[in-house]
Amino acid sequence: MCGIVGYLGRRQALPIIIKGLKRLEYRGYDSAGIALLNGSLDIVKKKGKVIDLENEIGSKPMDATLGMGHTRWATHGEPNDKNAHPHASTDGKLAIIHNGIIENYASLKKELEKSGHKFLSDTDTEVLIHLIEEIKIQNNCNIEEAVRLALNEVVGAYAIVVLSQDEERTLIAARKGSPLVIGIGEDEFFVASDATPIIEYTNNVTYLNDREMAIIKDGSLVVKNLENIVKTPFIQKLELDLEDIEKGGYAHFMLKEIFEQPKSIRDAMRGRLVLREHQLILSGIDQYLNRFINAERMLLIGCGTSWHAGLIGEYLFEDLARIPTEVEYASEFRYRNPVIRDKDIVIAISQSGETADTLAAIELAKSKGSLIFGVCNAVGSSIARTADAGAYLHAGPEIGVASTKAFTSQVTILAMMAMYLGLKKGTIPLSKYQELLNALDSVPDKVSKILSKADEILEISKSFYQATNFLYLGRGYNFPVALEGALKLKEISYIHAEGYPAAEMKHGPIALIDEEMPVVFIATKDSSYEKVISNIQEVKARKGKVIAIVTEGDTEIKGMADFTFEIPNIADPLVPLLAVVPLQLLSYHIAILRGCNVDQPRNLAKSVTVE
Ligand code: M6R
Repeated sequence: MCGIVGYLGRRQALPIIIKGLKRLEYRGYDSAGIALLNGSLDIVKKKGKVIDLENEIGSKPMDATLGMGHTRWATHGEPNDKNAHPHASTDGKLAIIHNGIIENYASLKKELEKSGHKFLSDTDTEVLIHLIEEIKIQNNCNIEEAVRLALNEVVGAYAIVVLSQDEERTLIAARKGSPLVIGIGEDEFFVASDATPIIEYTNNVTYLNDREMAIIKDGSLVVKNLENIVKTPFIQKLELDLEDIEKGGYAHFMLKEIFEQPKSIRDAMRGRLVLREHQLILSGIDQYLNRFINAERMLLIGCGTSWHAGLIGEYLFEDLARIPTEVEYASEFRYRNPVIRDKDIVIAISQSGETADTLAAIELAKSKGSLIFGVCNAVGSSIARTADAGAYLHAGPEIGVASTKAFTSQVTILAMMAMYLGLKKGTIPLSKYQELLNALDSVPDKVSKILSKADEILEISKSFYQATNFLYLGRGYNFPVALEGALKLKEISYIHAEGYPAAEMKHGPIALIDEEMPVVFIATKDSSYEKVISNIQEVKARKGKVIAIVTEGDTEIKGMADFTFEIPNIADPLVPLLAVVPLQLLSYHIAILRGCNVDQPRNLAKSVTVE
């Protein structure tokens, strides 16, 4: 939640910060603000998007080479001007931007009020800058020390940047639980929630660890922990191209990312699937092969779309590797006192690698001795760094709030893991393993084929974009696809949609079906095909409208559904990789026809770094 960006160098800070905020806008777009320091602190902030902030700034002269900016996803206090960041101290000499939540803000605020502090906003963040101010006064110390002492009193998560009018060429940043990357250029430094605001200026970066501070002053960077111990920053090269974070001619990031899937799926397999040698190379598993082979249970943990990928993972691990598997919502797992054993392997699935619930669930499992395997997209993210081993998706930045290419890459990785363990454990014969390898290799081309018919989905969308409800039904491997299809539709079009196992329909949701209800069936030719046909009949008998995703050449369902969309034939465990693509397109086109902002749907943020 929230994007932060800071700059200290020789160039004008304002354009760098504004451009950076636009790149980080996917993290939240309730309000935006900047603070520039040039003699005095100049703060401008505005409810709405970065464009509203730009309009507010207008042609105001804002000359400074030190500054910071924030784009907000509201937690404490409604989205309005006064709750927008940056927040200032009482004397106006200190300013802060913050991504995260200060959990003990209420008790701190009470104490600060007793000392005479007055608050202008409803935010937890404003409390932190007042705390820093109070500590600075009480200890008569510099801003670096005041921030360090204040953070030792804080409970919660944060990535912050603090500026002080009295220390003209100083920028202090710190993190715990929320991401923060520092870009190191020539005589200039960048601080941001992710590397996208930095990439065009430098590709030398360092990621702060939890409870670490960056002190940028006098042209140099010092990293310390909150115990005041100096750390040597690990400088690494960014593997990110500017074009990865631009729309590349597509109308929206979501559409671009849907169309990138042939490549992103191939990239997930690159170096791992060596077809000519009939081999999978999964070094993350090899590192702990015995533990994987002897695992009593797999626990797959994630949220939202990543949880849906996990559900497919459950089917894959049980089907191919015969390992008992459970998939858990991270937010439930962390609080429900789960049984976790040291022979369990926890697979944490997360595009951003920063989801707070998933991180907390990992910490819990780690404390019980489980091996943690991360399946993340964001390189260097908190989850990737916390895991004992893992496999990156290599999908490139996913900027559209609705996850698309990350999902198919997650499923690709999980499929490779299940196939590999199936072979190692002898639970699938070599012939089936080789057949699945060939099938997996064919996925990118088959996805391209589906995408070449995207217009068919646009036509279907035209008949349904005014619907108020949708049902998505599938069985077996296609049940999680139904859930994912429904999630995609609701998050970007605001149409209420539910996913269900097709056979469960008769236990309740069937009551919803009438001539107004579109029902999307994922009805490919697999082991439950005949049964799904019966479920389609049940919907048709009640005058529901059926949109069916079918296997190429299917004639039976064509005869009964109102609309069909064909996808190429593929082995059952890999069907989700194909079947989800038309559902992503369906939600995209419906949302566009309804005039929705698909890349920045209301109330959502790309990365949920709060509970
Ligand atoms: O970054 P993560 O994969 O951990 O994010 C998990 C969910 O927040 C995310 O998948 C969310 O559900 C997406 N908006 C779905 O499109």
